[in-house]
Amino acid sequence: MTSPLRLQKFLSRCGIASRRKAEEYIAQGRVTVDGKVVTCMGEQIIPGKQKVYFDGKEVVAEERFIYILLNKPKGYVTTLSDPQGRPIVTSLLSGIQERVYPVGRLDLDTEGALLLTNDGNLAQSILHPSHEVTKTYEAEVKGHPPTASIRRLEKGILLEKKKTAPARIRVKQRGKETTTMVITIHEGRKRQVKKMFQAIGHPVIALKRLAYGQLTLDGLSIGKYKILQQKELQKIFSHNFLYKHQNS
Ligand code: URA
Repeated sequence: MTSPLRLQKFLSRCGIASRRKAEEYIAQGRVTVDGKVVTCMGEQIIPGKQKVYFDGKEVVAEERFIYILLNKPKGYVTTLSDPQGRPIVTSLLSGIQERVYPVGRLDLDTEGALLLTNDGNLAQSILHPSHEVTKTYEAEVKGHPPTASIRRLEKGILLEKKKTAPARIRVKQRGKETTTMVITIHEGRKRQVKKMFQAIGHPVIALKRLAYGQLTLDGLSIGKYKILQQKELQKIFSHNFLYKHQNS
């Protein structure tokens, strides 16, 4: 909160009252800015720079963190703007006032679980390799990878001269020409899952992220999102590296 803000908006963001009620308080002369009573509605303030008091008590700008789990559809970019004019994931959120951003990325053609937040610390914790937050994907790959190749992927293979960390892979379904696998990894290298399967000669045809840790989409349909509660957030860090795959 550093850009100028209407006084009533600032008061409501700080949890004093709704914007309309805050306007009443201002009109009643109960609010001061830098020691002066303000009764006009057009007053703009810079939070953190000016001192605002309500009924003699300082109003402190407290940041409200919000955590959103979106089931990202294919065809959406996970950046906040796109020079090519493709749709951006935040356009799927309606009525969210906070400026949230995606935690990590999903490719344009990947769908599934995407976290968005305005809490930089949480985003950092999720992305930092030391926390080993697991990500589980469902990958439909070309052909039928032999067990030995799957084991190689699980142990770690060289990708761009660096060995991948251990992964867990289950075969979910063998189709006529493709295989659907569920893979859990705890790294977040760019296009990692696609590169891993490419490396064993079985390129990914379709990719979907099912979960962060034990936080799953849990019935959230494509394009829909939900605001996460504290209890759900904890599931992200649940150190069950080998997330129990459904249907496996
Ligand atoms: N791995 C990929 O290859 N693509 C994604 O979008 C996510 C993980």
